[in-house]
Amino acid sequence: MLTPEENERLTRVGPDTPMGAMLREYWLPACRAAKVEAEGAPERLRLMGENFVAFRGSDGRLGFIAEACPHRCASMALARNEGDGLRCIFHGWKVGSTAGAWIRPPSRPSGASVSPPMCR
Ligand code: FES
Repeated sequence: MLTPEENERLTRVGPDTPMGAMLREYWLPACRAAKVEAEGAPERLRLMGENFVAFRGSDGRLGFIAEACPHRCASMALARNEGDGLRCIFHGWKVGSTAGAWIRPPSRPSGASVSPPMCR
């Protein structure tokens, strides 16, 4: 029989929990790949208490990023798929499919590095 504390420890899978940290070490099925169309609208997903969006670029590569825009936390499920990344509809910042890398924030010169704030 589990104690309430053990049960809590084993059943919580959020990002700051022991089981959440362990489960994030493994691959998880998130959605059917065929459901994410090239240059189609982003697909909203919820996994282990966190919201994400999946999208496919014009080259067929799959992108998977946090739903919250790193700029001001707007939903990237509303973003426009421009083939090489998602452009947030609020301020126009664009996020690529490679680990959520910025392609080019509109207010920064080309090639400038950006450290976006974390939205939680
Ligand atoms: S909230 Fe997305 S670019 Fe500002």
